[in-house]
Amino acid sequence: MKVLVLHGPNLNLLGQREPDLYGHSTLDQINGKIEVLAAQLGLEVEFYQSNQEGLLIDCIHRARGKYDWIVFNPGAFTHYSYALRDALTATGIKTIEVHLSNIQAREEFRSRSVIAPVCVGQVSGFGVISYYLALYAIFEQSSRGK
Ligand code: DQA
Repeated sequence: MKVLVLHGPNLNLLGQREPDLYGHSTLDQINGKIEVLAAQLGLEVEFYQSNQEGLLIDCIHRARGKYDWIVFNPGAFTHYSYALRDALTATGIKTIEVHLSNIQAREEFRSRSVIAPVCVGQVSGFGVISYYLALYAIFEQSSRGK
């Protein structure tokens, strides 16, 4: 199983950015942890981060035929990017939306995701564990032939 782990805007600042909310690990450290678990589960992971909506859309388009799953933290685009949602629908790649923080427990505008309805599921609120849970879900689904 090939999995693209896609990180949206401002996630490049993890480690420095609001550590009370997002923790002290940098994006590289988080990616490193994801890589270790992925290897244990027999999943092949690749990573991409961009602060630009168009580059994330291009990356999703390129993922067609290359990846079986996307694990996607769309950052603030979660709450309003119909263009990213359309890219996921257009390519049809199974996607799990992931958030470090609990988006339901924060400002009102964060409680709505325009991306989640086109995803297989959403994991929110567990820091790096949110990514782990997405990987476990992929492992479980793929071992059931889904
Ligand atoms: C986030 C939650 C979003 O609301 C926010 O804009 C982010 C990070 C998270 O991982 O908790 O940039 O996606």
